[in-house]
Parts: sequence; structure tokens; C-alpha cells
Amino acid sequence: MIFGKINNFVAVGVLGAIVAAPAIRAATTVIPSNSFSSYSTLETYWAYLYPWGSDHNGSARMKGSSSDHSNIVVGSNTLSLIATPTSNPVPPTSSSNPHPAIHYASGAIHAKSQITVTQANGYTISGEFSAPTARGTWPAFWLTAVNGWPPEADIGEWKGTNNNWFNTFNTSSIVRSDLVAWPSDLSFHSIKAVLTAQPNNADVKLEFYMDNTLRATQYGQGFVGKPLWLIVNLQMEGSAGSPGPSGTTTYKVRNVVVTRTGS
Ligand SMILES: *[C@@H]1O[C@H](CO)[C@@H](O)[C@H](O)[C@H]1NC(C)=O
Ligand SMILES: *[C@@H]1O[C@H](CO)[C@@H](O)[C@H](O)[C@H]1NC(C)=O
Repeated sequence: MIFGKINNFVAVGVLGAIVAAPAIRAATTVIPSNSFSSYSTLETYWAYLYPWGSDHNGSARMKGSSSDHSNIVVGSNTLSLIATPTSNPVPPTSSSNPHPAIHYASGAIHAKSQITVTQANGYTISGEFSAPTARGTWPAFWLTAVNGWPPEADIGEWKGTNNNWFNTFNTSSIVRSDLVAWPSDLSFHSIKAVLTAQPNNADVKLEFYMDNTLRATQYGQGFVGKPLWLIVNLQMEGSAGSPGPSGTTTYKVRNVVVTRTGS
């Protein structure tokens, strides 16, 4: 830990000789805390659905647009993603591997700004989450590669139990997961990830916090310079078990803030 800090300091010092030090220290707000105050602020900072469309590897098909807010709702500075059981979906199975049957309509959004960690640009990504933990509910707040896969890092991933999973994927099989206990009462708790390029200019350190306490430190191999999408979604079943709820499930998120150090 102490050596890591010294290394970081040296790295900043070396860069400081090339790039003006004040530029490195400055922080830029990429997403401000009020992005869920209205549909107009939502659409300024976020786009509807996943970057690749409506389907992924669970049983929910995402639905929403500037004229359809039945599953993606904002107001009072809070985003609500709402999953409802669906019948006779068209097409009946997900277009994404492993093509599960669709059982729900739900909501997803992704940040319009991509996140690329470099020596000059670290990121802090935080928010407050009321996450359902019932079997078959699979809410998430996560980063995934724009080109290829991985990188992936999960800042919030709840897989149908009373735990949040902090995960970093080096490959599909080399994954570090740290679980933190998460209350089942739908109370809001904060989570945060601080992403910093390592001195080798290849790997990214990810420090994960819950309620302002550092809970896990992970390292993503080769994540430096790779653009990432930030996604908020309420997926269902899949990794979270099945069957999921027969009624409506709501995942609430507020005060999401993304800041970038450097230019
Ligand atoms: C992923 O790669 C980083 C950088 O090489 C390494 O520090 C970390 O331990 C790796 N993660 C796993 C789960 O092996
Ligand atoms: C679903 O895909 C995500 C990444 O896109 C991956 O992290 C997860 O392990 C996959 N889960 C299943 C059940 O396929």
C-alpha cells in the first residue's frame, strides 16, 4: 500500500515534468448529480437501453425512449428502472448469448460519455442505490468495453442474494470478485469506484467503496486507454437465479456523479 502510493506519486511527478501539474490535478464533472432531475437532463447525459440494443444475457428485454417512460422513469432526482412480467414477447428469446427466453420488460440506460482511463485521466464514479436482492433480480451499475470484451468492471452487481459483487475481469475466466453484504430492505447505500492508471501504463487500479468505506481493491489488466461504457440496468434471472418475481420490481438510483481528473 505504501509502495503503491510512492509509485503513484513518482508517476505524477514524472508526468508533471511533461504536462502542466495544474491540468493533472483539475477535476472535470462528466455527469453531475442532477442528471435524473428531468427527462431533458437524463437525455443530456444518458442514452436509452444498452449501447448495443435491448437484449443481453438475462430474461429482461429493455424498453424505453424519449416517448416511452413505462420502464425508465426519472423524477425527484431519482432514476427508477422497473421490470414487469411480459407475455408473448417478440421475438421470444434474447438476441444475445445464451439466448434466454424473455420473461420481463425492464429498463437500462448508458452514459453518453465513454470512460477511458489514462495516466492523465483517472475517474471517480459514484451513486446511491436502492437495489432489489430477491431471487431472479439482477440490477447492475457497471463498466464494459466499447470494443471487444473484456475490459469489464462491476461497481454494483446484485445477483438475487443480499450481496453486492465488485468484479474486475482480466479475461472471461480470470476474474476477481469481492462481495459486500447488502441490506434487503431497499434502503439507499452509496457505492463508488476510483479508477487510476498504474505506473506500468497498462493496468488500472479499481478501488471500490460502500458507504464511503474502502471495501476492495482490484486491478484490471490492460484497461489503460480502453474506452468503457457506463451502464445502469435492471436485468432479470440469468446469473440471479430463477424464477424471478411474479410482480413488479423496481431498482432506484440517485446522485450518480462521474468526475475525471486531468484534461
Ligand atoms: C488481473 O491483472 C492484474 C494486472 O496484471 C493483476 O494485478 C490481477 O491480479 C489480475 N487479476 C486476477 C484475478 O488474477
Ligand atoms: C452476462 O454477460 C456479462 C458481461 O457482458 C458477464 O459478466 C456475465 O458473466 C454473463 N452472465 C451470464 C449468466 O451469461
